[in-house]
Amino acid sequence: MNPVINGPLYAVVPAAGIGERMGAGFPKQYLSLAGKTLAEHTLNRLLSFAPIDRVLVAVSVQDPWWPTLGVSTHSRIATVSGGAARAESVRNGVTRALELGGENAWVLVHDMARPLVRLSDIQNLLDQTDSQGAILALPVVDTIKQADDGNHIAATLDRDCIWRALTPQLFPARALHDALQGDLAGITDEASAMEKVGRRPALVAGHSDNIKVTVPEDLALARFYLACQLGDEESML
Ligand code: C5P
Repeated sequence: MNPVINGPLYAVVPAAGIGERMGAGFPKQYLSLAGKTLAEHTLNRLLSFAPIDRVLVAVSVQDPWWPTLGVSTHSRIATVSGGAARAESVRNGVTRALELGGENAWVLVHDMARPLVRLSDIQNLLDQTDSQGAILALPVVDTIKQADDGNHIAATLDRDCIWRALTPQLFPARALHDALQGDLAGITDEASAMEKVGRRPALVAGHSDNIKVTVPEDLALARFYLACQLGDEESML
């Protein structure tokens, strides 16, 4: 294990969204992918990654589907209350990680809606982090435009230094907890909270099959990527 990770490691999984853009009528993590829910795919992968001590899942208190999943009672899973915004759900999970693991705990925050994360990418994140933390990300391939009023181009950005943030994102629990205090408006990932308090997490190149299932067409893409991964089991190791 990377020596900067000097305490227990907890996965924190925000799963309290309503999945409005998916339009399924229930949260998207309960959609089926190859006979299992997205949530089961995601959690099974995290549970099969031995360095993770416990998986802390933030679900809405009004979520009737979560208790029906067998995995919800797994001995290495604990449930915490979700919040009105993703960052609040994460903050609740990180607070529990500190309670369970103390000041040296680390947290690996991963969207429930990303069921195809590769264990080899999680390992890369652990290997490459420094004390500031690190995130999986992808360099952009398209030319990136900045809009002014929403419809017109204000600038073309230098794509050589632009990455798309994925999850997992890995941080010392105490540092992330403190960064998530106060106004959480506009905080859509953990790294942006850390940036706001002056930290500079590392970027670790991930894989493009680690999609966040968000809109209906993403399910077909997830099915395709899952089949590719199962056809190439070595990519999961
Ligand atoms: O909405 P978005 O796709 O960014 O959600 C990413 C993850 O954050 C999802 O797994 C979702 O369930 C979770 N989330 C949450 N609490 C919220 C909103 C979203 O845990 N209030």
